[in-house]
Amino acid sequence: MTVDYLQKIDLKNIPSNVSDISKKIINSQYFTPMEIGKYMSSMFKNNKKRNVTILDPGCGTGNLTLALISEICEWSVKPQTIDILLFEIDYDLIQELKVNMIWAKEYCLSMGIELNYIIKNEDFIFNSVKQLQTKQNEKFDYIIMNPPYKKLGTESEHNRSLLKIKIDVPNYYAAFMALSCNLLNTNGQLVCIVPRSFCNGKYFEKFRVNLVENYKLEQIHLFEDREGIFYDDVLQETLIISLINKNPNFSNTVKISYSKDVNFENVSLDNKRLDNIIFPTDDEKIIRMINKEDEEVVEIINNLPCTLDDIGIQVSTGPIVDFREKGTISDNPTLFSLPMIYSENISQGRVLWPIEGKKPGNIKMNEENQSNLRPPGIYVLVKRMSAKEEVRRINAGIFNSNETAREKFVGFDNKVNYYHINKHGLPNLNVTAGLTAFLNSTLVDFYFRTYSGSTQVNVSDLKKLRYPTFEQLEMLGRYTLEENLGQDEVDEFITKIVTG
Ligand SMILES: C[S@@+](CC[C@H](N)C(=O)[O-])C[C@H]1O[C@@H](n2cnc3c(N)ncnc32)[C@H](O)[C@@H]1O
Repeated sequence: MTVDYLQKIDLKNIPSNVSDISKKIINSQYFTPMEIGKYMSSMFKNNKKRNVTILDPGCGTGNLTLALISEICEWSVKPQTIDILLFEIDYDLIQELKVNMIWAKEYCLSMGIELNYIIKNEDFIFNSVKQLQTKQNEKFDYIIMNPPYKKLGTESEHNRSLLKIKIDVPNYYAAFMALSCNLLNTNGQLVCIVPRSFCNGKYFEKFRVNLVENYKLEQIHLFEDREGIFYDDVLQETLIISLINKNPNFSNTVKISYSKDVNFENVSLDNKRLDNIIFPTDDEKIIRMINKEDEEVVEIINNLPCTLDDIGIQVSTGPIVDFREKGTISDNPTLFSLPMIYSENISQGRVLWPIEGKKPGNIKMNEENQSNLRPPGIYVLVKRMSAKEEVRRINAGIFNSNETAREKFVGFDNKVNYYHINKHGLPNLNVTAGLTAFLNSTLVDFYFRTYSGSTQVNVSDLKKLRYPTFEQLEMLGRYTLEENLGQDEVDEFITKIVTG
């Protein structure tokens, strides 16, 4: 197709009539640059059918459909007819979509292909759930999409509707993916660009397990530049995934491709067996994208001697939910107030308190909250969420009662994870410093990034990590405290534990 025409559409990528910023946010209107559309389209396999059916849910002004049509028109064996169904909820985009589709029809005609399309200015979720409930739904050979990325409220009508057909997901993009999978013909193919967050994490577990157990993963494309895939404020890391409605098996080969950015210059490709990406014994079916350089780091961490259980330490989410504390949290300390610790208090391996911040740093013990406060001691705290500008995914710091409020109980906010032994502090400062240095090491940070696209650090992730022995952590702690070790030295220490 007339690369020219696609370029023209690309220039209109943020359609002129999307002036209403609130609507842009409500509907997650981030339009796909044509370079991405073209790359996504190149992933589709020619099924050599005479008639192909295509679905584009949340199609915007039809960028992805146009890119796919352009690709199909290049195939040596072309279909005779293409039937396309497009869903777009925003009425303001429909006119531009219609213009683009009229043009696509003409273009197909010039290539000897009959193009039929139906535009539904409707809600894709409600519509598809209804269709799937009646089991009279249409099925498609190809589905291409860049769905909305918003969170799905548990009380929302959309969520209620999805639960009726047992789709239980935390986010719109996963809802669109789950519905689309159900709408694929046997051997039909879905290619979509979505956040990476579904690859791990508890919230996506049911969705992910269903996906990887029932669909054959063909390709995953990752962008090395983690930001800037879309124009502005899409904060999450994105990937392109291609899968086929066909039973998978662990010896399947999956293509893992990388490009620096959306220009797709020098795309590198790795062929991996499925069981290298999803471990067969992993009940959660975490999808781990590990490239060759990362493999070495993963090996080091996987070969560490202990689980967290082995070293007799536990990790939990901070038990204080600040907005549920009525009248017990305050800015100003009193004789009876105790330190209240938030993720903001964690900085450069330490927990600083009090700090000048937005959050009130004092909590009073009462009957309701006393079981959620922890006795004085030394704990390792880890931020549950890192800010976008933070270089590290894992930010750990030592909380030491002796440095804050001696002998006082302490409140840990639920935006921090804390390491403890039966809800008490760790036995000595060396092991605490060692654990903190280990968690803050480049190796652990790198390891986390290989399988986590989200900036969240969940307790389940920390529980799954392998650790040095208790004694090795004590030794590392002693060194870091005495010698003020740099990052390279900490990494070297950890590597030596494994290599002997
Ligand atoms: C991330 S944008 C992508 C648009 C287009 N697919 C593209 O790649 O340029 C998601 C689109 O889905 C639409 N949308 C959001 N919720 C929808 C829903 N429930 N049903 C149908 N469309 C929806 C938005 O209006 C928006 O145009």
